[in-house]
Amino acid sequence: MEKEPIIALDFPTWEETERFLQPFSAESLYVKVGMELYLQNGPFIIEKLKKMNHRIFLDLKLHDIPNTVQQAMKGLAGLGVDMINVHAAGGQKMVSAAREGLEQGTTGKRPLLLGVTQLTSTSEEQMHNEQLIAVSLKESVLHYAKLTKAAGGDGVVCSVYEAAAISEVCGTDFLKVTPGIRLKEDDANDQKRVADPMLAKKLGSSMIVVGRSITKAGSLLEAYQKVKQQWGEIEHVK
Ligand code: C5P
Repeated sequence: MEKEPIIALDFPTWEETERFLQPFSAESLYVKVGMELYLQNGPFIIEKLKKMNHRIFLDLKLHDIPNTVQQAMKGLAGLGVDMINVHAAGGQKMVSAAREGLEQGTTGKRPLLLGVTQLTSTSEEQMHNEQLIAVSLKESVLHYAKLTKAAGGDGVVCSVYEAAAISEVCGTDFLKVTPGIRLKEDDANDQKRVADPMLAKKLGSSMIVVGRSITKAGSLLEAYQKVKQQWGEIEHVK
């Protein structure tokens, strides 16, 4: 289990990111760089964060034909990030191609590869009506987890509520990285399946991703420490 909560750096510019990171100058963080920050600023962001000794989950959720994803991953592996992801809905061949690309492009330690199952903002009703997937949300998530594992992925991005079932099917070492984390007093915003850090741990999450509960807090450091403390509070149940 990863000790540090992963902070989602959902900011448009480096200036805003740097301002947010200022109170954390004494900490070595695990941060998530997503589309918003990376697509508007490029690899420069990764270089900056690496210089500050932060670990990086590059959350670009690639989804394209296998060859394109393989070549993209080959390039992205060169950035030296710690973790990266693709949409499992792209299929087993695409996830395998992603893994191959990472191996081709890595010089040091290969970034961990995750498959995104169903976004935590997606409800079961929405999945039925918009994706025309007739099974339950849980079955869909388990299917994508098995597919990711079979393709050589190291884990999945999923909701806290599917973590235990994924462990049963894919093993406890298969990573369950869970966004949709909120401190009890916070708003769920657009997330549908939220949990607090303690519940995430209890339900078998391997790593938590926390955005707005920290980034929009009145006191950033206090909110981070609260999340970290709650995440570390009880014995991990696999
Ligand atoms: O602010 P909040 O804590 O909801 O942020 C969650 C972060 O996790 C966002 O950056 C979002 O893109 C990401 N994410 C997610 N659900 C997934 C995969 C990633 O919310 N299934």
